[in-house]
Amino acid sequence: MIAEPAIQVRGIEKSFKDVQVLRGVDFDVKAGSIFALLGSNGAGKTTLVRILSTLLKADAGTATVHHFDVAAKPGDVRESISLTGQFAAVDEVLSGRENLVLIAKLRHLKDPGAIADDLLARFSLTEAGSRKAATYSGGMRRRLDIAMSLIGNPPIIFLDEPTTGLDPQARIEVWQTIKKLADSGTTVLLTTQYLEEAEQLADRIAILHKGTIIQNGTLTELKQLLPPAKVEYVEKQPSLEDVFLALVGDTGETDTTANDDRPDGTVAPRKESR
Ligand SMILES: Nc1ncnc2c1ncn2[C@@H]1O[C@H](COP(=O)(O)OP(=O)(O)OP(=O)(O)O)[C@@H](O)[C@H]1O
Ligand SMILES: [Mg+2]
Repeated sequence: MIAEPAIQVRGIEKSFKDVQVLRGVDFDVKAGSIFALLGSNGAGKTTLVRILSTLLKADAGTATVHHFDVAAKPGDVRESISLTGQFAAVDEVLSGRENLVLIAKLRHLKDPGAIADDLLARFSLTEAGSRKAATYSGGMRRRLDIAMSLIGNPPIIFLDEPTTGLDPQARIEVWQTIKKLADSGTTVLLTTQYLEEAEQLADRIAILHKGTIIQNGTLTELKQLLPPAKVEYVEKQPSLEDVFLALVGDTGETDTTANDDRPDGTVAPRKESR
């Protein structure tokens, strides 16, 4: 029997007023794999993740997540997924442990304290567990955010820009976390603007540009799209960045809305209409 994909996306379209953001998006994500969705600012990555996680309705097309149709069975989809948004959902007034206990209680799980302690250990946060999340570094906050989204062991996890704003060390820690998740059988769909992140993590990489997936393949397949550059007698493979820029163009499609970044480098939450 051929295993059905964990996520199946067919012809998804979405416009905001007269701006058509998604113009027919198609792809499959194999169960237990890591799938990276690459795209410039404003390409529609978050919009697509919100459609797949039932927060937003598509104008056209269909998508199934864990074999449930997102439009017809949103409740079943929600029970099968977790979503770590582009902006961390951590409550800064609470300690790391209290954040985890809160979510476990909200999900009506038995022994929330034990679940919290287990996740703190898995994410190397045991020592920091009793401290207010407000005192955490960006990397610790991200790890806590991902830990919170794993409560209840969802088979599919969406990570919208999991390492934006993190320093290289914290980024590597989050990558290790994500790899471990996939190794344990969780299906991961992540969006990123960091090409190296996709290179490091993803089994397959899809490039979202001007509303459609313009390429979808393994890193090796994407690299084969460009001829290797010859440097004297050494053959140099193109990096994923070379492939991306050749496909998308150096300027890319930029978001015209103002970027509400705070001076400390964090990003202010956007008001989102539903
Ligand atoms: N609720 C909304 N109302 C109006 N326009 C929206 C809404 N949500 C998104 N958009 C617009 O849709 C486009 C795609 O936005 P989206 O957030 O999906 O992009 P993205 O690929 O996630 O970008 P980034 O890399 O900056 O996170 C942008 O032009 C954005 O301004
Ligand atoms: Mg986004």
